[in-house]
Amino acid sequence: MTTGRFITFEGGEGAGKSTQIAMLADALSLRGVPHVVTREPGGTPGAEALRNLLLNDAFDWSARTEALLFAAARADHVANLIRPALADGQWVLCDRFVDSSRAYQGGAGALGDEQVMTLHRIGSEGLLPDRTLLLELDADEAARRAIVRDGGGGDRIGARDAAYHARVGQRFRQMADAEPDRFVSVDAGGSADEVHARIIAALEPVLP
Ligand SMILES: Nc1ncnc2c1ncn2[C@@H]1O[C@H](COP(=O)(O)OP(=O)(O)OP(=O)(O)O)[C@@H](O)[C@H]1O
Ligand SMILES: [Mg+2]
Repeated sequence: MTTGRFITFEGGEGAGKSTQIAMLADALSLRGVPHVVTREPGGTPGAEALRNLLLNDAFDWSARTEALLFAAARADHVANLIRPALADGQWVLCDRFVDSSRAYQGGAGALGDEQVMTLHRIGSEGLLPDRTLLLELDADEAARRAIVRDGGGGDRIGARDAAYHARVGQRFRQMADAEPDRFVSVDAGGSADEVHARIIAALEPVLP
């Protein structure tokens, strides 16, 4: 049985996380590595239901309520999908995880990092990824990509102002600097193939 690895993709809107996670999944398939692809918030039926509540602009959640809902969605996802898949020897590729809560709700929102991590300990026993790929892209280029994709409007959180998103990017960078053994900062500029090659190079030490 292979050793399951828990790999998360982080970064701001439009950096290329979903594109790169699909390309990594294809590369793992070619190598015969069993894996699941999942996303946050969501990944399980219960967590997807919470996702709809979180990203729907019919609700004006407070920063605290939002952080609790993210932690609740993650708890269901960790218990019912992520831990079982890892125990089964599968790799788990997850589009965003607790570091997004730390950056968005913890850094750029009203809560601090310590409070977000406390919720994560309560909800998910503090599970952390084996590797976190932080896709870093210039804000203007990310906005251009998002416009090509969907007009760039974004969801309830994606639509927040540029200063909020700049704080998010800064927090991601601080986390990567503080946890160099877990985070790999990946230059997300250039073609999708170029970024993919950087990701494979970064994961080579843990790839079977
Ligand atoms: N290297 C690249 N060069 C040019 N365009 C790209 C590249 N990677 C992805 N794209 C395009 O940019 C857009 C945003 O990419 P993607 O949806 O993968 O980003 P994301 O990080 O998942 O965004 P979100 O946080 O909003 O989910 C898509 O239209 C995608 O096809
Ligand atoms: Mg995406």
